[in-house]
Amino acid sequence: MARVIRFRNQLTAMYLFKKIADLRHHLERINRAGKTIGFVPTMGALHEGHASLVRQSAEETSCTVCSIFVNPTQFNEATDLVKYPKTPEKDIALLLDAGCSVLFIPDVAEVYPDGQRSALHLDFGYLDQPMEGAYRPGHFVGVAQVVKRLLDIVQPDQLFMGQKDFQQFAIVQHMVTKLALSVNLRMCPTVRETDGLAMSSRNMRLTPAQRALAPLIYQTLSQAKANMHDQWPDALKSAAMKALSVPGMEPEYFEIVDSRTLQPITIFEDHDMVVACTAVRVGEVRLIDNLILKTM
Ligand code: PAJ
Repeated sequence: MARVIRFRNQLTAMYLFKKIADLRHHLERINRAGKTIGFVPTMGALHEGHASLVRQSAEETSCTVCSIFVNPTQFNEATDLVKYPKTPEKDIALLLDAGCSVLFIPDVAEVYPDGQRSALHLDFGYLDQPMEGAYRPGHFVGVAQVVKRLLDIVQPDQLFMGQKDFQQFAIVQHMVTKLALSVNLRMCPTVRETDGLAMSSRNMRLTPAQRALAPLIYQTLSQAKANMHDQWPDALKSAAMKALSVPGMEPEYFEIVDSRTLQPITIFEDHDMVVACTAVRVGEVRLIDNLILKTM
């Protein structure tokens, strides 16, 4: 059954579905009317970064579907799954304000009726090996599994995902190409706090002292970009790892990689597009960020 939600008596309303059959019934009507569907998959605890994806979809398609599903198969640390923040009322207000037409909130049994083991065996062509893949074993198998399942359910024309999770984007792009999925994948820029910290649902788990320290991540990425014409990638990487190794903060990696292969580079000139990616532990909270250093 659908619930129609209005916000502060606004004219715009949003349909809320928990069941696939109800969602499909609604979307088939949208399809028959010749309207385009944009899709923004999320895990909730929404912020302005998510809102920017929804806004872009609402601008470019006639019906924006957003899903909120905390996907158990992509969490390699059980505590991370348990501690994943949940802010349903705030999420609904944000989505209505951003122009979302349909919110899909399935439960685990709806998404994985046959159990959580992935039937999708995809060769990611090494894209899942470095960086997040090395530190979060199995994470991208879970991401690909849920994105494929959600795409099968929603069947959108356009899929909007953030640059914030650069490796995730590359994996999904690879899957879309490999499986010849008929969806257009769009990358949306990273939305940041005024001090440069990339918005993330995890930021709310930082203590005030940790929050004050966290902008160092973006400052370090920016410093690498500022120095890229005078230093080799290896030297930039070492300087960045040193800059991020301060009390209360522990960098896991800082890699300068080719944006297509995600393999570390040795010379900028040999690559069209280069991105610096990092993961840093601030206390218990693991933050990731990236910055494009060079584009065509
Ligand atoms: P989640 O972390 O909720 O992010 C949902 C989408 O929002 C992703 O495409 C992510 O890249 C984007 N996003 C997050 N923070 C952003 C920011 N500061 N600026 C711009 N975009 C941002 O990523 C996931 O969920 C999951 O892995 C998911 C794809 C939903 C599969 O479960």
